[in-house]
Amino acid sequence: MDISIIGSGYVGLVTGACFADVGHNVICVDNDPRRIETLQAGKVPIYEPGLEEVIHRNVSAQRLRFTGSIQDGVENSQIVFIAVPTPQQPDGSVDLSFIEKVAREIAGVLTSYRVIVDKSTVPVKTGEKVRESIKRYNRHGAEFDVVSNPEFLREGCAVADLMRPDRIVIGAQSEHAIDLMKKVYEPFMAPILVTDINSAELIKHAANSFLALKISYINAVSAICEASGADVEKVADGIGMDRRIGRTFLNAGIGYGGSCFPKDIAAFITISEQLGVPFNLLKEVQRINADQKIRFLKSIREALWVLRDKKIAVWGLTFKPDTDDLRSSVAIELVSDMVKEGAHVTVYDPKGMAKAHEMEALAGAKFASSALEGVEGAEALVIATEWAEFANVDLAIVKEKMTTPIIFDGRNLFNPETMAKLGFHYYSIGRASVTPH
Ligand code: UDX
Repeated sequence: MDISIIGSGYVGLVTGACFADVGHNVICVDNDPRRIETLQAGKVPIYEPGLEEVIHRNVSAQRLRFTGSIQDGVENSQIVFIAVPTPQQPDGSVDLSFIEKVAREIAGVLTSYRVIVDKSTVPVKTGEKVRESIKRYNRHGAEFDVVSNPEFLREGCAVADLMRPDRIVIGAQSEHAIDLMKKVYEPFMAPILVTDINSAELIKHAANSFLALKISYINAVSAICEASGADVEKVADGIGMDRRIGRTFLNAGIGYGGSCFPKDIAAFITISEQLGVPFNLLKEVQRINADQKIRFLKSIREALWVLRDKKIAVWGLTFKPDTDDLRSSVAIELVSDMVKEGAHVTVYDPKGMAKAHEMEALAGAKFASSALEGVEGAEALVIATEWAEFANVDLAIVKEKMTTPIIFDGRNLFNPETMAKLGFHYYSIGRASVTPH
């Protein structure tokens, strides 16, 4: 199939690369000339495991190319995917201006039948608006269909998620569009669910909200574990063994972050209110999430008494491991809060340092070039992201380098008993804190 993808961000780029890898001819479009130049020069502007290799392979095979022109993309493809950002507005609603602009631009260059597919996460009923907009600006009166095809990939394992998805959701009205979409996804051998457009759009918000709810659920349980002396990891194992619940997304921590969950939950709340059926349960999900960071900071304050002038190392800045993405990362908020309280914070992240240097919220922090350099002379270590590099560190060396061996583990990387034996004061989430044996 000949496919174009408008928007070469995380979703657009990974989707384009994977579509090319299964044999389609793909044109990735972006309105940022620097991004297109970077990609044309063979460089990949984001870190995502495996992505660079897939892109290089398919550019060499001439199945993947990059352009700044929507017209080029639309003219040379049967199916046009829209994968542009849908950022959050201050009131929680979604800014759909990028989608609207792209819809208008597509309409302006549409000369014959195309399937226009929305892959960006959008509020229910956006497909209807896209259709109306294209119809209005369709100068040549060309035929088209609008399809909703939400993307479920996770950062850090986006290529694997795209190549082996749990399901493909196709929201469409026209049989012809459904047939073409099925051809696009045939090589992926995943179950395909065909729905109407509104349902497909809702599936994305409902799925992400449910996952966030699962995280907030276990985080709320972690608070009860701390208050009662239970162990949240054991509780999560016990409830997760019920196949109806499942163990995934039951990892207690400092709360969810990233470019999707916070934005999508806020959007779903706003949509439900606009539809006159407020989804108040999700407000509690948000509250628990915010509270998780506050409780963690409280435990740091309680243990260190005052933060002013304390030398604190922070491991992990990205919102999750295996990405360089710092957007809506709880780790950044933690650093910024501790700096504001007068602590001397040194940060280290395996892939996030380049972007971290540009962040205003980290202006008051120092940057280390390795995890061990970060803990040199530290009075406490805060672990904010569960990178494998941290889990595999030699803790004896860490202890030797620290002035006082106190660890606040926001991701439950280590076993408390082992930490006590190694001589650490160790605080984690939803488990009793331990002191050196
Ligand atoms: C999410 C959805 O998983 C994906 O399907 C959707 O397409 C986009 O949003 P992503 O934001 O990339 O993906 O990462 P995810 O792995 O879902 O993690 C989101 C946040 O939740 C991270 O901050 C992570 O640390 C946190 N999390 C996740 C937990 O705190 N506990 C868990 O058990 C799982």
